[in-house]
This record gives sequence, structure tokens and C-alpha cells, in this order.
Amino acid sequence: MLYTQAMLPDGTFSGKTVLITGGGTGLGKSMTRYFLQLGANVVIASRKIDVLKATADELSAETGGRVLPLQCDVRDYEQVENVLRQAFAEFGSIDVLINNAAGNFISPTERLSPRAFSAVIDIVLKGTIHFTLALGKHWIAQQQRGTILSIVTTYAWTGSAYVVPSACAKAGVLAMMRSLAVEWARYDIRCNAIAPGPFPTEGAWSRLMPDPIREKFEPANKIPVGRVGEHQELANLVAYLASDYAAFINGDCITIDGGEWLKGAGEFNNLDMVTPEMWDMLEMFTKGAK
Ligand code: HXC
Ligand code: NAP
Repeated sequence: MLYTQAMLPDGTFSGKTVLITGGGTGLGKSMTRYFLQLGANVVIASRKIDVLKATADELSAETGGRVLPLQCDVRDYEQVENVLRQAFAEFGSIDVLINNAAGNFISPTERLSPRAFSAVIDIVLKGTIHFTLALGKHWIAQQQRGTILSIVTTYAWTGSAYVVPSACAKAGVLAMMRSLAVEWARYDIRCNAIAPGPFPTEGAWSRLMPDPIREKFEPANKIPVGRVGEHQELANLVAYLASDYAAFINGDCITIDGGEWLKGAGEFNNLDMVTPEMWDMLEMFTKGAK
């Protein structure tokens, strides 16, 4: 299948440095691998330094690329500035920021404490604000061009029950990307977002699709193309939007969900369960309604 294969030409990111928050696990790790394959230096930053180091060792051995693992809690602006300092010392500059770190879990909202709400908002929204602001200030002061890509979800615009802190935070991230796409274009800084549907990862599945839920609601059943996402197809989209091939794409949010959110939205979309025989019968009723 083509969508499981790498898409961009070798060397697309040669000489470039990409910073990926949450780059040690899940989708962030798949992005890290692909940017390395495309010739980038990659900085990965999150809380668990052991996990980051293991990923850095694994992926640099696999690709021959350079990965700098840095401990950072994105909720703390000083730690974010410290990551930038260390990245500049190692690689000289940063060309691409991927705001990928997130926290999330399913829960009825009335069960949440204020701390539970903040736990998610502070990682997703404030973490994105921190990295975007710190690196944006630097790029503007240095007159350096840059690209920012934030990973949101389709419920950034539909909202979603049972993940309300995440929905609020991702909506804020999307608003920030669209706002800065206009404000910072004059500094040659592009801002975009990607809204993935379900892509299996340990982090997301353990918190959002625990086994009792999955047994009842297999995610692929909600998706018109009949499957969940493959990591490489997301990595392809991330790398394309971060590259100069996408130089005219600014302020957009690209959905990659096999049609999932639209299926939930269309008034008659649930009629796909009607059989041809039933349609024959229904046609008699609808044609007769003169
Ligand atoms: C209710 C919960 C809870 C839960 C935590 N809390 N989990 N409340 N239900 N399942 C409450 C706690 O009781 C506490 O409040 C407060 O939240 C903070 O909890 P901590 O454990 O101290 O938080 P922290 O250590 O900061 O961890 C943050 C986290 C955790 C978000 C809670 O899950 C985490 O570290 N996640 C990182 C990775 C992640 O979530 N990946 C999934 C991304 S997937 P009190 O008041 O009791 O002190 C994703 C996909 C979206 O976003 C779309 C899919 C299609
Ligand atoms: P994941 O593996 O759990 O990734 C989340 C990452 O965020 C982890 O590496 C975690 O690392 C990091 N992180 C959490 N809190 C942090 C903090 N305070 N400071 C720094 N880093 C922190 O989950 P994933 O599925 O790959 O998710 C990646 C992105 O895709 C997220 O933005 C998510 O919302 C989005 N997304 C995923 C799906 C899906 O189906 N998987 C669908 C739509 C959108 P540490 O624990 O080391 O801090």
C-alpha cells in the first residue's frame, strides 16, 4: 500500500532542524523517525528523559541521523526556553516546530476536578503557547524563517462529549495557529494544524479506548474507509506541511481521518446500513409521495 510508504524525496530536510514535543512516543516517535530519514536533525522534548533517550538511541541507530533528547515539561516556560538554548547550542538553529505533546482521558465532565481540567489544558494549550511564543520571539528577533505545525483533533471544531478539557484546549490551539498564520506571515513564519482521526498508539488507546470501550465501539466501524490510520501516512502529511513543498499552505488545518467526522455530521449518513432490497421497497414509498 502506498500510504504505508515514505513519500518525500530523500534529503528534503538536509541541514534543517526539527523540534518535536512529545517526540519520544506514539505519533511523535513516528514523525521523528521520518524526519531523520529525510535528513533532518531532530530535537525531542518531553517529561520522561529515559523514554526520550531510548527513542533517540533506537532511531539514530536505525537512520544514522542526529537526535537530541531533552527533558522538558511543556507547562513550564523556563524549561521550554532551556530546551531552545540547548537545541541552538547543539544544532545552531531550529527550522520547524511540531506541537505534538498532549494529555487526555475520557471522563464525564461533572466528575472532573479543577486540577483534572488544568492537567489537560496546561499540557495541550499552554504547552503549545509556550513553545510557539518562545521560538516565534527568537525567529523574529533573528530574522529567521520558520514553520509551526500543531497536532489537534477533529473535535477541535465539533467539540466532543467526555473529552471536554481536550476539546477546549485543541480548539484554542487551532485558533492560535490560524491567528498567527496571518500575524506572523510577514516574518516568513507559516502556521498550520493537522487533525488526525484514530491512529493506534499506547498513549491514546490506554486513556481513550480502554478494552471495555473498544469491545463495544471498535473505532474502525465509525470510519467510512473502514480502517484506522497508519503512522506513516500521518508522518508523510506532517513532513509535507513542514517542508517548502507546502510553502503556500498557511493557516489551514488538514483532516486525516478517513471521513470519520463528516460521517458523524451528515443527516442521512446512517442510511449506509440500508440494503439494496430495502432500497427497492423504500423507492416505492418515496416515488409514490407526489
Ligand atoms: C478523571 C483524572 C483522570 C481520569 C487524571 N485525573 N486522570 N480525573 N479521570 N482518567 C485527575 C487526577 O485525579 C488529578 O486531579 C488531575 O487529573 C491530575 O492528575 P495527575 O495524574 O497528577 O496529572 P499528570 O501527572 O499531570 O498527568 C497528566 C494526564 C496523564 C493528562 C492526567 O494522562 C498524562 O500524563 N498524559 C500524557 C499522555 C496522553 O494523555 N496521551 C494521550 C494523548 S491522545 P485531583 O483533583 O484528583 O488531584 C489524544 C487523542 C485525541 O489526545 C483524539 C483521539 C481520536
Ligand atoms: P502519546 O504517545 O501519549 O503522546 C503524547 C506525548 O506528549 C508523550 O510523548 C508525552 O511524553 C508528551 N507529554 C505529555 N505531557 C507532557 C508535558 N507536560 N510536557 C512535555 N511533554 C508531555 O499519544 P499520541 O497518540 O502519539 O498523541 C500525539 C498527538 O496526536 C497528540 O497531540 C494527540 O492529541 C494527537 N492525536 C492523536 C490521535 C490518536 O488517535 N493517537 C488522534 C488525534 C490526535 P512524556 O510522558 O514523556 O511527557
